[in-house]
Amino acid sequence: MTDRTIDLNKVRNDTPGVSNRLHFNNAGAALQPKVVTDAVIGHIELESKIGGYEAEEQNHDKIEMVYGNLAKLLNCQSSEIAFVENATRAWDMAFYSLPLKQGDVVLTGFNEYASNYIAFLQQCRKNGAEVKVVPNDEYGQLDVKALKGMIDDRTKLIAITHVATNGGLVNPAKAIGDVAAEYGITYLLDACQSVGQMSIDVQELNCDLLSATGRKYLRAPRGTGFLYVRNTVKVEPVFLDLHAAQWTSNTEYKVREDARRFENWEQNFAGKLGLAVAIEYLLDLGIDAVQQRVFELAKQLRDKLSAIDGITLGDVGEVKCGICTFYSNKIPAPDIVNQLAAENINTTYTTVAGTRLDMTARNLPPMVRASVHYYNSEAEIETFCDELARICR
Ligand SMILES: Cc1ncc(COP(=O)(O)O)c(C=O)c1O
Repeated sequence: MTDRTIDLNKVRNDTPGVSNRLHFNNAGAALQPKVVTDAVIGHIELESKIGGYEAEEQNHDKIEMVYGNLAKLLNCQSSEIAFVENATRAWDMAFYSLPLKQGDVVLTGFNEYASNYIAFLQQCRKNGAEVKVVPNDEYGQLDVKALKGMIDDRTKLIAITHVATNGGLVNPAKAIGDVAAEYGITYLLDACQSVGQMSIDVQELNCDLLSATGRKYLRAPRGTGFLYVRNTVKVEPVFLDLHAAQWTSNTEYKVREDARRFENWEQNFAGKLGLAVAIEYLLDLGIDAVQQRVFELAKQLRDKLSAIDGITLGDVGEVKCGICTFYSNKIPAPDIVNQLAAENINTTYTTVAGTRLDMTARNLPPMVRASVHYYNSEAEIETFCDELARICR
C-alpha cells in the first residue's frame, strides 16, 4: 500500500453526477469523471465534423493509450490486452475459444455469474464436458483446499468470479491461481466487479485470462470492456475477422499473435478513448488509495446497516469489498430501491437471476445492492442509512 490518499473534494469536483444523485450503484455503472465524458463527447463531435474513420485516425495515439494504461494497471504487457465491448463478450471470447471435449471438467465456484454458468451449461451440453462447483469454506468464499482435492487428469479449466455480483465477497483469486499454476490448469478469472476497486496484478494472481468491463469500478463509458490474455496462451479465438486474422491466400489465413486477435475490427472508438482516459485518471489517483477508501467506506456502511432494525446483511467472505447487499424483514428489495430512487438515491437489487447457486444455497430473497466508490462521502452513508431506516420503519 502507498501512503497516497484520496482528495475527496477534488474527486467530487471532478464528478458532476455527485451533485444530482447519491450514487450507490457503482457496481452497476459508476459515475464518470468529467474528463472521461469530455473525451467521449469530443470524439463523437469530431466524428460528426470530419468522419468516423478520419476521427479515429486523428485520435489514434490517444485511443491506443488504452492498452498501455491497462497494462500498467494489471502489470502485464500492452500486447496482452484486447479491447472488447463488455465483460461478458470478453469472457465468452476466452471461454468459447478453449478446447473442451467429452470428459473434460471445468471447476468453478458458488458465486459464478449467471452468464458464465449458462455458457458452461451450453458448452458442456454440446461437447460432453462437465462443470463442477467447488464448495465454499467457513467464510463463504471458494474453499481452496477443496479445489485442490477436486483436481484430477480431467480438469482442464478453473473459471472463477473474483468479486460476486451479489455482495462484498472477494474470492481468494491468488490462492486459486497458485493451485492452477501448480497443476498447469488454465485459469480464467472474471474480474468484472474487482478491476477498478482493488489492486489486480495478473502476475501475482497467476491467471491466464481475465475479463472486465469499463462502466463499473473503472468509471468508463458503457459498452466498453477488455480481455487480458497471457502471452503464453496460444488458443485461436472462436471468432475471427479481418482484424484478428489476415486472409493470406484463397485457402489460408494467419491469426494475429497478440491479444488483439480477440477483438472485432469495428469498435466503439469514443468509448475506447473514454476507457483510456478513465484508466489514466485512476492511475493518477493510485489503485491502492482507491482500494483503501472503497473498503473503508463499505465497512462503515455495513456497520451502520447492521444497526438498523430488521436489516440483514448478505455479504460473506474473509475480505469484503465495496459492494454491500442486504434485505429487510418488512419491505421487499425492489420496493426499497424504488423508494430510495424517489429520494434521488441510486441502488439496485440482486436476485437469483444473477447468482443462482449462491442465492439458492443460502436461501436468500432479492437483496438491495448498495455499492460505494471512493468519491462517495461519509455524509452520503449517513443520509443513506437515515433514509433506509425511515423507509423500513
Ligand atoms: C461478476 C460479473 N461478471 C460479469 C458481468 C457482466 O458484465 P457486462 O455486463 O459488462 O457484460 C457482471 C455484470 O454485472 C458481473 O457482475
